[in-house]
Formats: sequence, C-alpha cells, structure tokens
Amino acid sequence: GDCFTSAMALTESGVPHVPTRYILPPSQRPVLSPSIGTGSINLPVIDLSFLHDPLLRPSVIHEIEMACKEFGFFQVTNHGISSSVLRDALDAATRFFDLPAHEKMLLVSDDVHTPVRYGTSINHATDSVHYWRDFIKHYSHPLSKWIDLWPSNPPCYKQKVGKYSEATHVLHKQLMEAISESLGLEKSYLQEEIEEGSQVMAVNCYPACPEPEIALGMPPHSDFSSLTILLQSSQGLQIKDKNNNWVCVPYIEGALIVQLGDQVEVMSNGVYKSVVHRVTVNKDVNRLSFASLHSLPMNKKISPAPQLVNEDKPAAYGDFSFNDFLEYISRNDLTKQRFIDTVK
Ligand code: SIN
Ligand code: FE2
Repeated sequence: GDCFTSAMALTESGVPHVPTRYILPPSQRPVLSPSIGTGSINLPVIDLSFLHDPLLRPSVIHEIEMACKEFGFFQVTNHGISSSVLRDALDAATRFFDLPAHEKMLLVSDDVHTPVRYGTSINHATDSVHYWRDFIKHYSHPLSKWIDLWPSNPPCYKQKVGKYSEATHVLHKQLMEAISESLGLEKSYLQEEIEEGSQVMAVNCYPACPEPEIALGMPPHSDFSSLTILLQSSQGLQIKDKNNNWVCVPYIEGALIVQLGDQVEVMSNGVYKSVVHRVTVNKDVNRLSFASLHSLPMNKKISPAPQLVNEDKPAAYGDFSFNDFLEYISRNDLTKQRFIDTVK
C-alpha cells in the first residue's frame, strides 16, 4: 500500500514484531551470527597515504587492483578527509532523522527524479517486501546548484553535509585515477566526465529493529554508480564474495568504504565487477550511513574502454547512461533484477 510509516516511527512506537510487510521469505533471511561465513576472510584495507608519493604510488595501485579483482570492494584509511568532517556529517544525519515526522514528511516523494527526497524502504509505494530503512537522498555536485534545495532543518545540515560532499568528490576523483591506472589506462581516462559527473548522496538510517533475523535494511543489489564511497556509524553492511558467500564488513573507525559500481564494471569490460551488497539490521542501535554515489554525467553513455576490448575480449556490455538507469528503476522493481544484468 502507499500509506507511509517510517522505520524510525515503528522503532519509536516500540513494536515487539516487525509488521508483515517487512518479513522476508526464508531463503532471503540473513545469517547474523558473526562466526558463520565470515570466519577466515580478511577484507582489504588500503592505506592511501602513499598515493601522492611517486615512488610508492605503484604499490598502492597494485593493492587497489588486487582488491578490485577479488571483491570490487575495499576500505581506505588516510584518505584525506578529517575525522571532524566525518563526525559532523553523521551528527547532521542524526539530527535530521530525529526531527518530528511531520517535518520530514514535507520531503517525501516516491518519484525517483525528485532532487531531494525523503523516503522509507526502497520505494514505499511499490516495494513488495519492505526494508527497515529510512533515507534522504539528494544531488550533491555541483554543490552550488543543489545545496539551496537541501533540508533547512536541522540548521547545520547544509554546512556539514556540504563539507562532506565536497571532500568525497575530491576523494572520488583520486580513486578513479588510481582505478584507471590499475586497469592499465591513462590516469586521466574520462577525467572531464568524472569531474563533471553527478554525485547523489544517500543518507540512510536503519533504526534498531525488533526482529533483525527476518528483515533487512537493504536487499542485495549493486550500485549503478562508477564508485560509491560509504561512511558508516557501525557494522551492518555485507558483501557477496566470489564464492557467493555473504561477508560482514567490519566497522573501522575513521575508515571509508569504497564499492565498485556498475559503471566501472562496464568501463573495465568486466575485468572488475560491481560488488553485490546488502544491509542487515540489529536489535540495539540505530545505524547511519552516507552512500555517496558518483557517476558520469546523466546523459553520458558509458561503454567498455577501447583499450580493454579486443578479439579475445569483445565488448561484454551495452552502453547505458544514468538517465537510462533512472528510467529503468522508475518502471521496474530494482530489487528483482540488478540494472547491470539488463545491459549485458
Ligand atoms: C547502500 O547500499 O547504498 C547502503 C549501504 C549501507 O548502508 O551500508
Ligand atoms: Fe548500495
């Protein structure tokens, strides 16, 4: 139905059980015991300090290449974004989700084209199963074009989230250069498109959930972005490894998560794969995350880099743009099929 109740409102009302619409079919329920399926895997954590040192840069690029090939995922430390910028962003998010419901309701929309959009689940109006998640999503780059549309409550939101958005935009450019290099492309491959590309900030809140073993905060999906940079306040994210096992992503204070999106998979002609991930919920704490989704410009079609296409490795993907993606998700249930599977 399209009656709107946020996950936060359910948590605050103290419901002892999740409403039926949140209950996943048994085969889709998460395994929450940290000892199962997670024991031996060490997910990559890459120190970026030496990215700016010409002598040591190649070793960082090599670590990035290994992580992209194995997981399409890594965490980064010494990424150049100060801990106060991270803390301020999480503080602004906490204050936003703590606002009274009527205030947040002013920003509700189920139209994916709305530039500033508060919502719950993925799309509360169309989801067949609901997810234990509230979010606010908005464009972030170029900042001056969008910031006036952002929430004016809490009063610190624009300034704090603005700072974080600018910082992630810079980091994302550095990471795209490194990723291009790691693929044997020019460091400046698609430089202009990357600079002019879009940035969508998805700010997520996963309130404490009475029955975390039968619900999820987000269903399995890959991101349509080129890269997603993720800041989390506590553990909850899981990624799928090459053997199709779900692996819990550890919380590392001050670190940021980097996820390869569908656009890098296409650009690399499948040498790198976008990472499939989902979000689990827990009984005790509200979890917050900032997913900064960086993409090429809305109308720019992405295709495999010509240098990575040859007789042995023909182009494995059809071209698509961010606009094609929006068009697709406004007509389809993205949780049923990953977008990238439709362009293969
Ligand atoms: C996302 O997949 O965009 C959100 C991930 C997270 O909240 O950890
Ligand atoms: Fe995602």
